[in-house]
Amino acid sequence: MDLGARRVPKPGPDRPAALDGIAARVRVCGLCRLCETRTNAVPGEGTGRAGIMLVGEAPGRKEDETGRPFVGAAGKNLDLALAAAGIDRRDAFVTSINKCRPPANRDPTPDEKQACRPYLLEQVEALRPRVIVALGRHGLHGLLGQMPEGFAALPGTFLAGPQGIPVWVSLHPAAIIYRQKWKEKYLEQWRAFGEWSRSGATAPVGASLPPASAAVHPPAPPPVHHPLAPSPAKPSPTDPWPPHMAASRRRP
Ligand code: URA
Repeated sequence: MDLGARRVPKPGPDRPAALDGIAARVRVCGLCRLCETRTNAVPGEGTGRAGIMLVGEAPGRKEDETGRPFVGAAGKNLDLALAAAGIDRRDAFVTSINKCRPPANRDPTPDEKQACRPYLLEQVEALRPRVIVALGRHGLHGLLGQMPEGFAALPGTFLAGPQGIPVWVSLHPAAIIYRQKWKEKYLEQWRAFGEWSRSGATAPVGASLPPASAAVHPPAPPPVHHPLAPSPAKPSPTDPWPPHMAASRRRP
């Protein structure tokens, strides 16, 4: 099946109108208990006109405050990845499997992901992107409908996704906040993804991309500083996570 050449994104500033209807329903959704503690639901943003959809886990504190996806510390690392890939964030559509913040940034439960998944699938149907990027294992769970085995081996590879659309897997951008040694690999994978997305080639489902060519891609530009992003607290030498982030709450 030729998954890579299935759709040419439409040029133009407007995104599909159906996304606005989905967003309106998400903002008043009461399908799971996360509606009781949210300030704002975060349906997603961007035109998607590059044919790229990004799917994270769930909003954090800044996202809950603003109603916008990836505007906190994880958003800075997403911006770095997109800069490495040469993708303008406004041309992608950015969302998460869960549209409401789990209290204290705990992981979303399987029930919460299941309740929110129909919105994600509607967004996929409205956009019909050329490729979907799963940002971390919860985003991938939302896209595939089941928790993937052995997630650690998947970043950088393509899988068959919903509605016949290929899914490219990335580490969650928050995962590298306190694991700087993973950052170069993360950015290298995004450089290769950018090269693939510009090439128009078919997605190699089940495989990784070749490394990005250094000749074509100069080093990534300096980080884009998001005005709303806080500076991360310093980790202790023994525990790479700051004290307020217990094992179950590692998504800023
Ligand atoms: N992490 C996510 O997965 N989604 C967001 O919107 C923000 C942080």
